[in-house]
Amino acid sequence: MDVTFKIRRQNPDIPGKEKPYWQEFVLRDVDPTDRILETLHRIKWEQDGTLSLRRSCAHGICGSDAMRINGVNRLACKILVRDLGERIQVEPILGMPVIKDLIVDMEPFFDHYRQVMPFFVNEDPLPADGRERLQTQADRELFDDTTKCILCACCTTSCPSFWANGHYVGPAAIVQAHRFIFDTRDQAGKERLDILSEPNGVWRCRTIFNCTPACPREIEVTKAIGEVKLAIRKGKTVGIIQPNVAH
Ligand code: SF4
Ligand code: F3S
Ligand code: FES
Repeated sequence: MDVTFKIRRQNPDIPGKEKPYWQEFVLRDVDPTDRILETLHRIKWEQDGTLSLRRSCAHGICGSDAMRINGVNRLACKILVRDLGERIQVEPILGMPVIKDLIVDMEPFFDHYRQVMPFFVNEDPLPADGRERLQTQADRELFDDTTKCILCACCTTSCPSFWANGHYVGPAAIVQAHRFIFDTRDQAGKERLDILSEPNGVWRCRTIFNCTPACPREIEVTKAIGEVKLAIRKGKTVGIIQPNVAH
């Protein structure tokens, strides 16, 4: 099949191309099962080597090729041509400064990520027998969903609250905080809840829900945010989440 791509381009370093503009490319003999990443590579390698995009693993793991494809945030390496049709529009994810074409500056996103202490904290000595810090399967289940995050930014850059206020920490950072807040072995839950109680924390979420369908890992993002809000309101992390599984 032939497919027409309309790609939003921008190069702040080249006079005349500083402002965003659209460019069309027609690709012949596209296989419907080709992934969008492959078609963008074909455009770059066969038609215009200056087209710039970020990617690494090509298998939905690294989270580096998030783009807005036909108006929806997706990973270019996970979405197939047959799911989009013969006209495909590709643009950078919204709310981030564009470096070039489809590449955005992810530093503001990772600044928010770093704010929420996305690391395990436990000052107690390890068990004397040399074993790991153990927890039950039911306790592990409390944060199982949020361990799946690959920091692709599809959620944060689809959130109208983030578009309106780039200081909002955003759903991805809250998902990362959730992973540690509800880990029964961690000791910094209260600190993270205090950070997320700040004006640009979790209460900037207006439950718009764009983030949940945007997540390529199918994390229940809005649910996780709701659990963090509830933990702040109740002033505790225990008893907020009911595990889905009985052990
Ligand atoms: Fe990406 Fe989902 Fe993590 Fe958001 S929660 S950064 S959409 S993997
Ligand atoms: Fe935004 Fe998701 Fe909340 S889209 S407003 S973070 S539910
Ligand atoms: Fe790694 Fe798509 S290139 S997730």
